[in-house]
Amino acid sequence: MADYIEAKKSRLKYYQKIPLYYQTKERKLVLYKPAGKTIEEVRLEKEQVPGKLYIKQEDKIKGIKEIQKVFNIRLSEDIRSNNPGKVKETLVNIVQETLAEPRSGSLEGVSETVNILISEYTKDSDVIKNLLIVSKQDYSTVIHSINVMAIVLGYANFIDCSLYEKKILGLSALLHDVGKTKIDTALLTAPRKLTDEEFNEIKQHTIRGYEILSKCNFGYKEIALTALQHHEKLDGSGYPYGITNLEKTAQIVGFIDCYEALTNDDRPYRNAMSPLKTLKLIKQDVESDKFSRNLFETFAYSLL
Ligand SMILES: [Fe+2]
Ligand SMILES: [Fe+2]
Repeated sequence: MADYIEAKKSRLKYYQKIPLYYQTKERKLVLYKPAGKTIEEVRLEKEQVPGKLYIKQEDKIKGIKEIQKVFNIRLSEDIRSNNPGKVKETLVNIVQETLAEPRSGSLEGVSETVNILISEYTKDSDVIKNLLIVSKQDYSTVIHSINVMAIVLGYANFIDCSLYEKKILGLSALLHDVGKTKIDTALLTAPRKLTDEEFNEIKQHTIRGYEILSKCNFGYKEIALTALQHHEKLDGSGYPYGITNLEKTAQIVGFIDCYEALTNDDRPYRNAMSPLKTLKLIKQDVESDKFSRNLFETFAYSLL
C-alpha cells in the first residue's frame, strides 16, 4: 500500500497516460483503468465504480504533468475568452497541483504556463492585470505566488523588456516562495507575532527554495537565485545571508513581493493597505537604501 497514493476525485477525469487502481476487500490493489484510457471510457465498460482510486507512487510526477497539460490548454482558452475569474481559477489549479510535489519534473510544467501568460499578454487585453481584482479569498502561498507573478508581468510589460526577460521574471516570481512548501503550514499561517526561533525557521524557505529549484532544468539560473535572494536587501539588512550584491531579477521580485504582501489582506491581525499608502511605506526602505530608487520610481509609474 505504501507504493500507492489516493487520487484526488476532482483530478480523475484528467488522467489518461497513467493507470488507476482500486482496493479489494482483501486490501489488494487491482488495476481499474489501464494506461491510455480515460476514466469515462472505463466507466462505460465496467459496472462498478470504486469509491476510492489510487495511483502508483512512481506515476505521481507523470500524473502531475498530465494535469498541468490539461490546465495549460484551459488557461489559453480562459485568457482568450477574456475571463479573469476563470484564468485565476485555472492558475490556482495549476500552481496547487505543482506545489503539492515541488521537485524537478513537476516544477518545469509551469514554464509552459508562464509562456502562455506572456504570449497572451497583449497591450489591449488586461486579463492578467484583472487577475488581481478577482476575489482573494483563501489567501495562501498559491494565491500570493500568482499575485506576485501578475504584478511582476505587469511591470515587465511596462518596462518593455524582451520576451526572454519576461519569461525569467514571470517564472522567478511564480516560484519565489516554493521553499514555503517545506515549512510547517501552522507557522506560515499563525495569527500572531512569531518568536525569534519561529521566524528563523520561516527564513529557511529561501534556502530550501534554492535547493529545490537548482535541481530543476529551467535553463535559467535566475529562478533559483531569486528564491534564495528575494528577502535580501541592498543595504545588507535582509536574509538569509545579508548580502548586498543582488541579482536584478531577485531585486524586482523581492520588491514586488513586499508590495503584494502589504496590499493584500493576508493576516488576520492586520488589514490590507492601499497602493498609495504601501508605496509611501516602502519609500522609507528606499530612503535607507534597502531597495533600488530607480526600481521604486519605475514601479510607481507602472501603476498609473
Ligand atoms: Fe518569501
Ligand atoms: Fe513571497
